[in-house]
Amino acid sequence: MECETSPESLAAQVNDLQQQLVQTTAQLEKYATDLNRSWERERERGQQLEATYQQLQTYARDLKVAYDAEKRKSDELEQAHYTSLLRLNRAMRYKDDESASHIERLSYYAKAIALHLGLGEAQAQMISSAAPMHDIGKIGIPDAILLKKGPLSAEEWEEMKKHPALGASLLKGTPSPLLETAGKIALSHHERWDGSGYPQGLKGEAIPLPGRIIMIADQYDALRSPRPYKPAFTHERTYDIILNGDGRTLPQHFDPRLLEVFRDVHQQLATIYDGLHD
Ligand SMILES: [Fe+2]
Ligand SMILES: [Fe+2]
Repeated sequence: MECETSPESLAAQVNDLQQQLVQTTAQLEKYATDLNRSWERERERGQQLEATYQQLQTYARDLKVAYDAEKRKSDELEQAHYTSLLRLNRAMRYKDDESASHIERLSYYAKAIALHLGLGEAQAQMISSAAPMHDIGKIGIPDAILLKKGPLSAEEWEEMKKHPALGASLLKGTPSPLLETAGKIALSHHERWDGSGYPQGLKGEAIPLPGRIIMIADQYDALRSPRPYKPAFTHERTYDIILNGDGRTLPQHFDPRLLEVFRDVHQQLATIYDGLHD
């Protein structure tokens, strides 16, 4: 016999189901609203992030434009300083007998030595560009002494020994790193490693490296060039004098590390001299 469900219990079941459906629908609606809310929140956060990112990009662009403009200005200033000093240098050479090619060779020697020593390209270039101004202080030395053909008297020599400090005072006091290097070179290019140089009698590492580099390069060039008191020496003779001395120039005048470098690059210096002398 089949069991029959009474209409009352069926109605009760339907009612139950309806209530469950209403509850489930309400729950689902609540979930949907929550989801919608958090999605909205995420979307707003995303928009804020995007706006911040755009803002940062604008700042970065503005900063770059400002930086480029500043850099251009300081490069122009550096170039202007440099050009005016090169002109002063040229003016000085009208009274000194040091030739334009000496200045040019010195820049090349200095770069070859600095690079071989292991300095970076930028630093080597800085020393090379500053090299031409090493004797700029000679502009303050009286012509009678600067152009004298014979040997200098003791007092004249004392006067001549002022050119490094004069040069340094001409070059200092600007914000230019190039001129600062040039000033160091001007002041120290007659110092010797053993302390027997001038004007301060500095010894060893107390002499700024750019000054030590220019000193050996300047000596090489002076030995290769004719002077009123000596003929131009060959590369071989000059090489021997720098490494072994001749009584006047001595190996202990030079930074031993730079003597090693000289041993390695001497052929390069000879090529520079041969390609660039008047
Ligand atoms: Fe000098
Ligand atoms: Fe020189």
